[in-house]
Amino acid sequence: MNITFRLNGETVALSDVSPTTTVLDWLRDHKKLTGTKEGCNEGDCGACTVMVTDETGARALNACILFLPQINGKALRTVEGISAPCGTLHPVQQAMIDHHGSQCGFCTPGFVVSMATAHLNGASDDDVQLSGNLCRCTGYAPIIRACEAARDAAVPPHMQDTAPDPAPVASAAGHAQPKTSDALAEWYTQHPDGTLIAGATDVGLWVTKDFRDLGPVAFLNNCADLRAITSTDDGIEIGAAVTLSDLETAMADPHPSFAALIRRYGSVQVRNAATIGGNIANGSPIGDGSPALIALGAVLHLRRGAARRSMPLEDFFLEYGKQDRAPGEFVEKITLPHQPDRLRCYKLSKRFDQDISALCGCFSITVESGRVAQARLAFGGMAGTPKRASQAEATLQGAEWCEASVTAAMAALSADFAPLSDMRASAQYRMMTAQNMLHRYWLEDQGVTTSVLEVTP
Ligand SMILES: Cc1cc2nc3c(=O)[nH]c(=O)nc-3n(C[C@H](O)[C@H](O)[C@H](O)COP(=O)(O)OP(=O)(O)OC[C@H]3O[C@@H](n4cnc5c(N)ncnc54)[C@H](O)[C@@H]3O)c2cc1C
Ligand code: FES
Ligand code: FES
Repeated sequence: MNITFRLNGETVALSDVSPTTTVLDWLRDHKKLTGTKEGCNEGDCGACTVMVTDETGARALNACILFLPQINGKALRTVEGISAPCGTLHPVQQAMIDHHGSQCGFCTPGFVVSMATAHLNGASDDDVQLSGNLCRCTGYAPIIRACEAARDAAVPPHMQDTAPDPAPVASAAGHAQPKTSDALAEWYTQHPDGTLIAGATDVGLWVTKDFRDLGPVAFLNNCADLRAITSTDDGIEIGAAVTLSDLETAMADPHPSFAALIRRYGSVQVRNAATIGGNIANGSPIGDGSPALIALGAVLHLRRGAARRSMPLEDFFLEYGKQDRAPGEFVEKITLPHQPDRLRCYKLSKRFDQDISALCGCFSITVESGRVAQARLAFGGMAGTPKRASQAEATLQGAEWCEASVTAAMAALSADFAPLSDMRASAQYRMMTAQNMLHRYWLEDQGVTTSVLEVTP
């Protein structure tokens, strides 16, 4: 494939690149820009963080699971391009020195790029911005102090990147970078065995860890219509290629608990790449997007060529590893009905940030005249697919909205699920905590504070 992008301010045009060469490998092996480090090579540590700018703004991304065609028509800035061309350090670099923010230094380039991107964007939620950067030896306090010290410094002019026009995509070996969902639909009917790549936060690992040959690939990140979130008379339409970061912003008002759940999805770098369509299509039983969307009554819209069909999202997941999707068919969008916000989402994982759920419970219970008018209870991590708790829902339906009804629904969960024991949690723990999540919903609905995160000394 041919691609054009800007690297630290200079335009770069490449021809015949393999579509699955990662930006990290290209930077280190071909460009000898070795400031960008390889730690985990799977999106977990942030040592490879780079800044990518396009018409939507500047984002921190993990270069290890970013394929070169994903930066076609964008501007890439590595740690080598963070100081000014004259050599003057960026304010965050100077602050890292002044506040002793680096010990062995391996993580430092990744931190500096995350910090400089946050500084450019005026983001001051340092804990969030740095949740994808792992430091084993310095400790985070000096790094956070450096963020704070640099906060009010002016953004150096060289950090304001502009993106070049993307290279026209050659169709060598059947690869494609369509600009519309129509073009994608046409490509996929011609290449039904091809691989769709959206954010590559799953597919990237197939390449870096499994060394898989993906065959012909199509990148979705330039399909503008798949990246849109629209409010219509009927509800909210979410394009399949909407990133988790954009979804977090869009959900902050109508469903703040969903936004708070997304805040715990991977890290800033992962959320800036990962799409909701990829999160659904991969069929993971522990994906965080689907339980929340199912609790909100989401409808999934699939497309194959000109043919379209839709279904309640929960019906898409047939069994572990099997979804109701035909060859050549892709997720086009998800729609949500407008509704009063009754959603609460609870994610249980061993770490707060950057961890896959052991269990995720998302509930929306509507109450009218003291009785449950509708209960939608969806779980991830309790079965081979994201799944509704139909017995517990039936127990609540029409019942008085009181603690006794909630207790009965908690008991009914054991008729809904027979969870597995695995590395993340035992079956017994999963069942008990699923029940407790439902109790927590009740308590919060009664105005009881349950979050330990808000506890202050
Ligand atoms: C470090 C790290 C942390 C993570 N943390 C979390 C987490 O906390 N919670 C969580 O749920 N997930 C997490 N994930 C998993 C991952 O981010 C998600 O599953 C992600 O949403 C996948 O989206 P993507 O756009 O990156 O998909 P891709 O990797 O591009 O694709 C995933 C799959 O979906 C297919 N696909 C993509 N788009 C479409 C479409 N429109 N139609 C049909 N098929 C499509 C692809 O062909 C592929 O099979 C994490 C991953 C990493 C690497
Ligand atoms: S090398 Fe660890 S996130 Fe990329
Ligand atoms: S300074 Fe050593 S890992 Fe951060």
